[in-house]
Amino acid sequence: MNTIVKSLLDPNTCMTNIKNAAEIIKAGGLVAFPTETVYGLGANALDVEACAKVYAVKGRPSDNPLIMHITDEMTLGGIAKNVPDTAIKLMDTFWPGSLTVILQKDEAVKSDFDTVAVRVPKTMWARLLIHHAGVPIAAPSANLSGRPSPTTAAHVLEDLGGNVDMILDGGACDVGLESTVIDCSDGTPTILRPGAVTREMIEDLIGSVNMVYEVLGDEAPKSPGMKYKHYSPNARVTVVIGDTEKVAAKLEELASSSDKKTRVITAKDMGGNHEAIAANLFDILRQCDELGLGEVFIEGVEEEGLGVAIMNRLKKAASYNIIKV
Ligand code: TXA
Ligand code: MG
Repeated sequence: MNTIVKSLLDPNTCMTNIKNAAEIIKAGGLVAFPTETVYGLGANALDVEACAKVYAVKGRPSDNPLIMHITDEMTLGGIAKNVPDTAIKLMDTFWPGSLTVILQKDEAVKSDFDTVAVRVPKTMWARLLIHHAGVPIAAPSANLSGRPSPTTAAHVLEDLGGNVDMILDGGACDVGLESTVIDCSDGTPTILRPGAVTREMIEDLIGSVNMVYEVLGDEAPKSPGMKYKHYSPNARVTVVIGDTEKVAAKLEELASSSDKKTRVITAKDMGGNHEAIAANLFDILRQCDELGLGEVFIEGVEEEGLGVAIMNRLKKAASYNIIKV
């Protein structure tokens, strides 16, 4: 298949490209598109065959459900039912934005799950695409399963080129990490994946929530996505956390004693502050593969605010190989 790449950055052609992409979605095809978090691999969420193609193209296990992307809260009818007040408060406050809410599924939606994950992306292009397609768009991150999520159209092309109908190029994603996932389908809301909408922001609004996003030992994961290996470059990754100077010394020591092609990556190299690190992280992990590295030593960040999401992705990239100094 020839994958068409179309830019959204030229205001003269942007709408034509979005409308053409919407036609592809309506016809059961696949379109990768930018959101503020990461690029999504979109299909008509109500078309079972189109969704099956998403799984096939990504190499995604079939027990890992997709997020439905909609234009606004008003279009939840026929998708979710028994929506609790806490979920409504969250949606009113954080939509459009980096928050995915898990709700009880309406019977009208055909899937093997009792619940449904929904999100309204902040990027206007994404909402225009959904609007013109006239259907909810199911979109996982547009990477091959197990690879870092894509934050540029080039990343998508690298993983899925030749296997999707179209890629809409809107430049680099602002946030760079996938949305926060919160389960509001039953009882106390539970954060299943940390993201840019932090636990503090959520608790300020609706009070105390649970947070279960790491599966330890033989526990059954609450979110299927938790049990799969994620974000891993081919290189073995070691994350070092602690006092800045001690970390710098440890990173150098580890790199100099390695017999593989290595690279040290400090927080400063990744952009310094949490926002910049989040935006650059997946691109940096992908570069490790391009450079053919055998081993990388990365400085971790403090697990506070957005740092929780950054460390969650880093820990997974490192397969929990963390050194504290
Ligand atoms: O930022 C994002 O959320 C991006 C953009 C494209 O919107 N999408 C994304 O989708 O990251 P994906 O499929 O890569 O991650 C969705 C996560 C997975 O871990 C999945 O297991 C979980 O959400 N999930 C989806 N539906 C669920 C459900 N009904 N119950 C529990 N977990 C669910
Ligand atoms: Mg993903």
